[in-house]
Parts: sequence; C-alpha cells; structure tokens
Amino acid sequence: MVESMVYPGVNMTASETKTQDTTLQRVAVVGGGTIGASWATLFLAKGLSVRLYDPAPDNASVVRQFIAAAWPAMQRLGLHPEADPGRIDFTNNVADAVSDTDFVQESGPENLAIKRELFAELDASTATDTIISSSTSGFMPSDLQHERVAPERYLVGHPFNPPHLVPLVEVVAGAQTSPEVVDKTIRFYDSLGKKTIRIDKEVQGHVANRMQAALYREAIHLVLEGVASPADVDAAVAYGPGLRWAIMGPHTSHQLGGGPGGMRHLLEHIGPNIDRWWQDLGTPSITPDNINKLVAAWDAGNPPSHETLSAERDTLLLALLETLQKTRTELQPEVIEP
Ligand SMILES: NC(=O)c1ccc[n+]([C@@H]2O[C@H](COP(=O)([O-])OP(=O)(O)OC[C@H]3O[C@@H](n4cnc5c(N)ncnc54)[C@H](O)[C@@H]3O)[C@@H](O)[C@H]2O)c1
Repeated sequence: MVESMVYPGVNMTASETKTQDTTLQRVAVVGGGTIGASWATLFLAKGLSVRLYDPAPDNASVVRQFIAAAWPAMQRLGLHPEADPGRIDFTNNVADAVSDTDFVQESGPENLAIKRELFAELDASTATDTIISSSTSGFMPSDLQHERVAPERYLVGHPFNPPHLVPLVEVVAGAQTSPEVVDKTIRFYDSLGKKTIRIDKEVQGHVANRMQAALYREAIHLVLEGVASPADVDAAVAYGPGLRWAIMGPHTSHQLGGGPGGMRHLLEHIGPNIDRWWQDLGTPSITPDNINKLVAAWDAGNPPSHETLSAERDTLLLALLETLQKTRTELQPEVIEP
C-alpha cells in the first residue's frame, strides 16, 4: 500500500477528517503558559473539553485571551463539529483539574524540582491509568519517572511552538513507560491531526531541537566569523532549503538529490564534499561575549519590531499550513492495494 506520493510528512490527512480517538476524552492541561494555552486551544478546536490548572492568579483571563486570539486560525484550519472555545474550566487546585481525567498534558515550568513536585501531586490525584505526557523540551522521560506512582503511564509528548498550529509532537518513552501507553498516546495525538513521531531512544533535546541546534550552531558561527549578516544567513535558510524542509527532511531530500541512484549515488558522489564541510563547521559557545556580538549584529540590520515579525510569522505560517493541508488531502487518495 502506498500512502502518499512523497515520503514522509505528506501522509497526513487534513486534521478535520481524522477520526477522534474516543478512548481519551477527559483531558487536563497542567500549566497554562505559552505552551499550555496553545495545547488547550488545540484540544478545544478538536472538540474536547479541557480542565486547566495554573497557580498564577490571572492565568484564566490570559488563557481565555490567547484562545480568542487563536480561534480564527483554528476555524481556518478546520474545527471539529463539537469544538467550542468555552468548553474549558479553570482551577487553581491541581487535584480538581486532573481527577477523573484520561490524559494530562503537563506544561509547567522547565525546572526539574518543580516538575517532580508537580508529578507527586499528580500521583496523588489521578487514577493509575491516567496518561501523563510532559511537554518538556529539556528533560528525559526517565528523569521524570523517578519515584513516580505507576511510572509506566509517564512519557514525554514534546510539541513544537505553537502546538495549536505546528503539527509535530515527539513522543518519547522512558525506561519504565509501557509500550501500550506509547501507542495510545500516539493514537491520541494523531487523532487530533498532529504529526507524531516516536523516538526510540532517550537523548538530550529529543530529535527536532537537536537538529535545530546543529543548524543554529553554524548560523551563529557564520555571523561571528563575518561570513554573512544574520539577515542574510536567515534568508539562506528561509528562501532556500527551508522551503524544502517544510515538505521533507534531509534523508528524503538526499534520496531525491541522488536522482534515480538515490542517496547511495549522492553520498558516493557528493559525500566527500560534505565530509570536508563537516570538518570546517564551527563550534561556537554561548558566552557573554558572543551574545553581545550576535545581538549587535542583529540590531545593525535594523530589524522590524517584535510585533511586526511575530504577526508576519503567524500569517505566513497559517498560509503555509493551509496550503500543505489542502494539497496533502488532494494527494491522499493515492492508495494502491498490493
Ligand atoms: N516555549 C516553547 O517554545 C516550548 C516548546 C516546546 C516545549 N516547551 C516546554 O513546555 C513547558 C512549558 O513551557 P512554557 O514555554 O509554556 O513556559 P511558561 O513559563 O510560558 O509557562 C509555565 C506556566 O506554568 C505555570 N506554573 C508555575 N508553577 C507551576 C506549577 N507548580 N504547576 C503548574 N504550573 C505552574 C506558570 O504560571 C506558567 O503559566 C516546558 O516544560 C517547556 O520545556 C516549551
């Protein structure tokens, strides 16, 4: 069976045509900051009702404003028939948020001591089969499972900001996570229109941030060495390979780059060049001196304001997502039975 004309990343059905996974319906979001508010928006747009816990006194109004601002984009991308931005309850009592839930998306501060304290509260207030998926960017699931009740239901479900728009979720199991919990979590995220990847081995930064970090290291190096300005280095990504990266990753690109001979031909032919470039790549560190140099180089380019840049990013990202969603749906019927 061929699922799509290009592999991978194109085999994603438009989110509104997905069948909702009916096994995980009662959802809680713990921590309503940048990521928690965005997860809540996604869950609501997909027809779920949400309970949200955050200790900050003004959090409910901040999250409500976030959802209201994001809702037109969710409408454009396709709402579930039962989607309702009002189906969210706020509480400053964690037990109220998570008791009687099937799935908790933990999005509290990126601090291991705070997370472990929070997980102890989740242990005390959830059924032992409630899945607890952490948004953490920096911790490994085995760190989070330390001393947990029923550690087999703890795992990482790492989104890309903002999760209500960017489809990727990285699911990472810890040493004690059960395979059934991993499968169920992947099915749940997929049913919400996410593009979920399974990470088979715990590593620092999971997969996507490691690749971002590799590229960012060289982007910094090129500016510090005076090779090009920040704006030109960024243009080299956004107007060049970045366009392809929205469609396919480096393995698929290199498979195609080798023509009919595939990646074997490309690696045997161009591989020595790549090896030479690898030897020459920079290894800068984030020192105070380098931070000053990078900020000065950025400011020297007279960059647009934060508001202008972020509005432009959101408009273009939404346009891109809409186009990709529509085109992927058109490609989808390409199913050939063996
Ligand atoms: N910001 C990103 O780009 C990004 C991307 C992917 C994953 N993440 C991960 O998501 C998580 C949240 O990051 P964020 O950027 O939303 O942070 P944030 O600072 O915006 O939000 C954290 C929220 O947690 C609340 N909080 C404080 N103490 C708490 C507690 N004890 N229990 C529950 N909530 C508490 C805060 O009031 C705040 O609203 C982190 O683990 C981070 O690594 C962040």
